Amino acid sequence: MTAKPIALQELPADLDRSRLPNHVAVIMDGNGRWAKRKGRPRIIGHQKGVDALKNLLRCCRDWGIPALTAYAFSTENWGRPLEEVEFLMTLFERVLRRELQEMMAENVKIRFVGNLEELPKSLQSEIERSMHDTQNNSGIQFTIATNYGGRQEILQACQAIASKVEQGYLKVEEIDEALFERHLYTQGIVHPDLLIRTSGEMRISNFLLWQMAYAEIYVTQTLWPDFDRVEFHKALFAYQQRDRRFGKV
Ligand code: FPP
Repeated sequence: MTAKPIALQELPADLDRSRLPNHVAVIMDGNGRWAKRKGRPRIIGHQKGVDALKNLLRCCRDWGIPALTAYAFSTENWGRPLEEVEFLMTLFERVLRRELQEMMAENVKIRFVGNLEELPKSLQSEIERSMHDTQNNSGIQFTIATNYGGRQEILQACQAIASKVEQGYLKVEEIDEALFERHLYTQGIVHPDLLIRTSGEMRISNFLLWQMAYAEIYVTQTLWPDFDRVEFHKALFAYQQRDRRFGKV
């Protein structure tokens, strides 16, 4: 028996390299259902979800997509059972510790966005380390939204701007889109062109509300742990069929 080649290592021929998204965002939904279907605890779904995310990151790199953002934990996710929340926090920390060296070797630039101060201190340290160590890397921009909420992000930007106005550092007339964006967590990162949501739900769920204004949305029934290169190819193919008009004719 011959060894099976890694499927879709190269950009598939039916995709136009010049029209790939510059930034893909993913809502990694369906880990729990994936585990349930297999008769396993939900946390196994999250573990498999990490593998799917790593594979997607590599795929973006191989196919020439410069930025990927993943929604790992929303401000609403604290409402999950305590043991699942604790498992996820420990998982993030363990994965960061385990993968950092490889991310460095692969030239990945890591950014965490969200209200990071509310996360466990030990996780905060790993996050700081990963962002610090990879800050000068020039490869793919990998952003992880953790304790992230789009409304909360917009509110904190408003508060920061209002406080500058109050203290006389800024005039109301100086507030424009560019200035507002500089107060968002995602400052300096291009807006997503494509949002992928797995497991069939047709919602944005408070993810990158400002940044997603003109993103193309692709929803697949596939559960996140099963989202592989074949699925990503389908998403990119669908994206390239869209007519992006940005409000124009
Ligand atoms: C949603 O599935 C998934 C999450 C809330 C967690 C996603 C996190 C990971 C895949 C780990 C990422 C790791 C790092 C280090 C970034 P769900 O539990 O809502 O699934 P369900 O809707 O089927 O219950």
